[in-house]
Amino acid sequence: MILYRSTEIRPWEEPVLSIEMNQKNGVFTLLTKNSTYQMRVGPLGYLLHNYYGRRCEDDFGYLHLERDCGASPNPYELADGRSFSLDTMPQEYSGSNCGDYRLPSVLLHSESGISGVDLRFVKAEIQDGKYSLNGLPSAFDRGSDAQTLVVTLRDEATGVETDLLYAVFEQQDVITRAVRFRNTGKKIVHLEKAASACLDLPFGNWDLIHFHGRHAMERQMERISVSNGIQVISSERGSSSHQHNPFVILCEHTANEDVGECYGQMLCYSGNFQIETEKDQTDSVRTVAGIGQRYFSWQLCPGEFFETPELFLSFSCEGFTKLSQNFHRFIRSNVSRSPWTYRRRPVLINSWEAAYFDFDEDRIAQLAEDAKTLGVELLVLDDGWFGERNTDNCSLGDWFIDRKKLPNGLDGLIRRVNEAGLKFGLWIEPEMISEDSVLFREHPDWAIRVPGRKPTIGRCQMVLDLTRKEITEWLYQTFSSLMRENHIEYVKWDMNRCMTDLYSPALPPERQGEVSHRFMMGLYELIERLTSEFPDVLFEGCAGGGGRFDAGMLAYFPQIWCSDNTDPIARLKIQQGSSFGYPISVFGAHVSASPNHQTGRSTPIGTRAAVAMAGTFGYELDPSKLSHEDKEDIIRQVERFHGLEDLNREGILYRLTEPENIRFTAWQTVAEDRKSSLLTLVLTEPEGNPRPLHVRWKGLDPEQNYHVAWIQYYGCRYWDEEKLPERLSGAALMYGGFTVPRLYGDYPSIQILIEQE
Ligand code: DGJ
Repeated sequence: MILYRSTEIRPWEEPVLSIEMNQKNGVFTLLTKNSTYQMRVGPLGYLLHNYYGRRCEDDFGYLHLERDCGASPNPYELADGRSFSLDTMPQEYSGSNCGDYRLPSVLLHSESGISGVDLRFVKAEIQDGKYSLNGLPSAFDRGSDAQTLVVTLRDEATGVETDLLYAVFEQQDVITRAVRFRNTGKKIVHLEKAASACLDLPFGNWDLIHFHGRHAMERQMERISVSNGIQVISSERGSSSHQHNPFVILCEHTANEDVGECYGQMLCYSGNFQIETEKDQTDSVRTVAGIGQRYFSWQLCPGEFFETPELFLSFSCEGFTKLSQNFHRFIRSNVSRSPWTYRRRPVLINSWEAAYFDFDEDRIAQLAEDAKTLGVELLVLDDGWFGERNTDNCSLGDWFIDRKKLPNGLDGLIRRVNEAGLKFGLWIEPEMISEDSVLFREHPDWAIRVPGRKPTIGRCQMVLDLTRKEITEWLYQTFSSLMRENHIEYVKWDMNRCMTDLYSPALPPERQGEVSHRFMMGLYELIERLTSEFPDVLFEGCAGGGGRFDAGMLAYFPQIWCSDNTDPIARLKIQQGSSFGYPISVFGAHVSASPNHQTGRSTPIGTRAAVAMAGTFGYELDPSKLSHEDKEDIIRQVERFHGLEDLNREGILYRLTEPENIRFTAWQTVAEDRKSSLLTLVLTEPEGNPRPLHVRWKGLDPEQNYHVAWIQYYGCRYWDEEKLPERLSGAALMYGGFTVPRLYGDYPSIQILIEQE
């Protein structure tokens, strides 16, 4: 895999020793700038979890008192010793069928008849740099910014060994984890659960924050109290899904944006996943995160190994804002491999909401010419350019030009778009096949389906069997030629249905449980080949909007279409929810027509732009249908976006309102050097005789004075009598805050840019 090292990034500080291994007491300590993670080899070689929390260099073994707990069994070797039980001691990576009744990290059965694992310590090793995973997306180091700890555990009865992999990114306050299973025994074993990580928090009362949703309403934040029993956040849809996101936060009941301890866990995986949380009989809380278990089983023959997807962990004792910032920085600097990560993105216009399937060469060329007059830089031809694709019920797989719509081929259209002064981008949906397609008629067996059953159809399409080499090779040849033969500078990679009916004729019966994970491995390999071969092409991920919005995809694509819902008011919650784990620089966000196509709501064009600017920014409308005023406005928006894009892409994000605030939503980006900051506030619930709109700026330099560089009102302002201060200290803006002038009308908003004097 090619790693792109941005020269725009500050050199990392001197390497620091972030892993300590104490041979005498068997304690391993992982240190990041603000956190300590600790484990130790306990009685009988069990690997016990000691501590994860604020940075502190003590040995935390003292916390976990061994004591007899009724109905919790003890290992045989301890004879009468009833004070040690796997069921009550915090485990680093829980086994199964060996006396710990809480959530297992591993479930397996061996062809010898044995089930479960009793994992004991074998050895540990520190390595320079970051470990790597085969065929899976994962974080990467930038030379000396990471160190690896490998702890090997073994189950004697089956011969299964697990390498617990930890990489410590000291400066980023992030620890990554994954597990490598090795079958060193003589019998085949079947892995039925192979978690990426287990985390025991034996003390405290915790809330679980997760991000659920549905198509066109993704990543809605929900906060629930962790109560006794098990709570599962998961997807079995073959993608990380619209319904749940593979990112959760465990936090203290009192935690908020600014205070409180919180732990973020993010899977770097785009397929079926599960994150389980259990509060047990002693009030200890355990989370186990990894591949979704329901349809998973992996055959591990003697000598074979299996690697799990990776999990990113971060801890903050300063609330959610700090936790989010840790993930934002980490994704940009150590996950996103695209050379576009730190590059300016062109303002684009997408044909989807402008024309849907109803276009021809002239209409698209006209769209490009009209968009050019507004300052737009890239035209994206969305769905409908291939086969006989005039509706969404056919032609997926027929990746040849529809000559009725584009008589001069893609080449002819691209020439006209380029002549209009725009770059050209193209929509594709490689993983899919329509029943009504040449491809399906030629290769009906390429679609995933259960033999003897009618296939399940989603958006009139089926999923290609990417577990098969000949299919991923065909896709690679098809799309690499398309890109080689045409001047395509942007690709939108869509995926519009969930997977079900799992079965692959290429796999034997005992390996059918591997289909969904092998599909992901095939997909990752395909994407890696294409993105490596065309590093200058800007790729945007998409899955019916934001149905595959995860760190796995972000390892390859520098941006992902957030949602098919382009209504700016609905987007506030979608983008706010997304921002807990993901940086706004990856949010695909566009200004679309009003009334909005998904909700029917009307909003000012300025508010639509202010919300889309907290993202990659672009348009999804037909400029020929705009009023003169709106066109004038767009010209100014594009200029404004370019003036702000560095700040929005690489600045530090602060959410100034809680998702429950129904009156208004406000957020702020601050330059790393704190010299400038942009505040955006959108009024979502206008009031009669309105109460003051008050916010406190964050992240400024309290010692410096700031002046308002510019201020923009979108929609209507209440009246003009309110005078804004021209200059204020960072301290005043942060501690006293700022009262925003009254806003009036349907969804007005305001943007204020301040700069240090
Ligand atoms: C779903 C995407 O999210 C939309 O933006 C659009 O590309 C359609 N698919 C096209 O079918």
